[in-house]
Amino acid sequence: MDIAVIGTGHVGLVTGACFADLGNKVICVDKNEETINNLNKGIVPFYEPGLKEIITKNTKNNRLAFTTDIKEAVLNSLIIFITVGTPTKYNGESNLVYVEKVTAQIAEIINSYRLIVEKSTVPVETGIWVKHTIKLKASKNVVFDVASNPEFLSEGNAINDFMKPDRIVIGVENEKSEKLLKELYTPLNAPIIVTDTNSAELIKHASNSFLATKISFINSVAEICEKTNADIEKVSKGMGLDSRIGKKFLKAGIGYGGSCFPKDVKAFIHIAKKKGFNFDILEAVSEVNKKCQENFLKKIKDNLWIIEDKNIAVWGLSFKPGTDDIREAPSISIIKKLLDEKAHIKAYDPQVSEKQFKNSIDGKIEFFDNIYDTINNSDCLLILTEWNDFKEVDLKKVKSLLNQPLIIDGRNIYDIEKMQNLGFTYISVGRPTVNKKVDYNNNQIFSTNNKENI
Ligand SMILES: NC(=O)c1ccc[n+]([C@@H]2O[C@H](COP(=O)([O-])OP(=O)(O)OC[C@H]3O[C@@H](n4cnc5c(N)ncnc54)[C@H](O)[C@@H]3O)[C@@H](O)[C@H]2O)c1
Repeated sequence: MDIAVIGTGHVGLVTGACFADLGNKVICVDKNEETINNLNKGIVPFYEPGLKEIITKNTKNNRLAFTTDIKEAVLNSLIIFITVGTPTKYNGESNLVYVEKVTAQIAEIINSYRLIVEKSTVPVETGIWVKHTIKLKASKNVVFDVASNPEFLSEGNAINDFMKPDRIVIGVENEKSEKLLKELYTPLNAPIIVTDTNSAELIKHASNSFLATKISFINSVAEICEKTNADIEKVSKGMGLDSRIGKKFLKAGIGYGGSCFPKDVKAFIHIAKKKGFNFDILEAVSEVNKKCQENFLKKIKDNLWIIEDKNIAVWGLSFKPGTDDIREAPSISIIKKLLDEKAHIKAYDPQVSEKQFKNSIDGKIEFFDNIYDTINNSDCLLILTEWNDFKEVDLKKVKSLLNQPLIIDGRNIYDIEKMQNLGFTYISVGRPTVNKKVDYNNNQIFSTNNKENI
């Protein structure tokens, strides 16, 4: 099939590349000339495992092309996917300005039947507005359909998620659109859920909000674990083995981030309110998420006392492993707060570049290419992303390089018994602290011999 994908970000590029790999002829469009020039040179604008290889293969065999010319793409395609960003407005509402602009552009170009598919995550009833906009702007006799086909891929595993989805949701208004989309997705051999457009839009917001709820729930349980000396890893395991609950998204940490969960939860709350419903659960989910980062900062202060002029090493900046995406990453809010208190931040991430991070945050941050150089002469080490690289380090070496053996781990990547034996003061989330140096509750200070047990 001939397909256009408008917006070559994380979703658009993966969608375009994967559809091409399935044998379709795909033109990907972006308004950003630099992105398109780079893609035409084989440079992929972000890190996503396996994506570059699929793009190279399919551009070589002429099934995948990149352009800034939306007209060329729309005229040569039967199905047009809208995959532009839908960021958050100041009030939590989804900003649909890019969706509207692209819709209007498509309307002015089409001269015969097209199926226009919203793949961007949008609030319920956006499809109605997309249809209305096209009717308003397109020439009178043009026939078209609008469908919703939300995307569920997760960054870092996007190709696999696209090629082997749990389900494909298509919200359609008639059999023609259903047939076209079913045909397109047939090679994936996945369950296809056919709904109306409103329901499809709601499935996406409800799914992401539910996953965010699971995360905030387990982070709340982690707080109770900390207050009772219980272990959240064991509690999660005990809960997750119940097939009604499931193991996924039950990992305690410093809260969800990324370009989707924070924005989709807020947008769902907003659209619900607009329709006359207060989504109290989701308000709480969002609040709990903010508190996770506040609690983490408290742990840093409780163990360093004064932040000013302390050297604080940070491992992990991306919002999760497998990606260089730092949109709404907990690292940003945590580092900002530490910089406000005049800490010296020494940072390392396997994928996030210095230039990229410094576009999001100002201040005294030193970047390192080497895991160990980051911690040399540091007063503590913070772990903010659970990259595998961090799990496999030489912990004895880590201890010898730090000014004091203090690790505050927001992702629970190390075994507490092992850390105890190695003599670290190790503070994680929802698990007992080992080798505590200061106990505020009992007004006690323990040994502060920095390098014992090396
Ligand atoms: N990133 C994810 O993991 C993910 C997963 C599922 C769904 N989604 C949703 O998919 C949508 C896109 O997300 P993303 O992360 O790919 O966004 P993104 O910001 O990475 O990419 C959006 C792209 O659209 C382009 N664009 C904007 N206006 C344009 C126009 N008029 N013409 C051509 N191109 C235009 C931008 O230049 C940008 O390259 C969002 O609604 C998001 O919520 C994202």
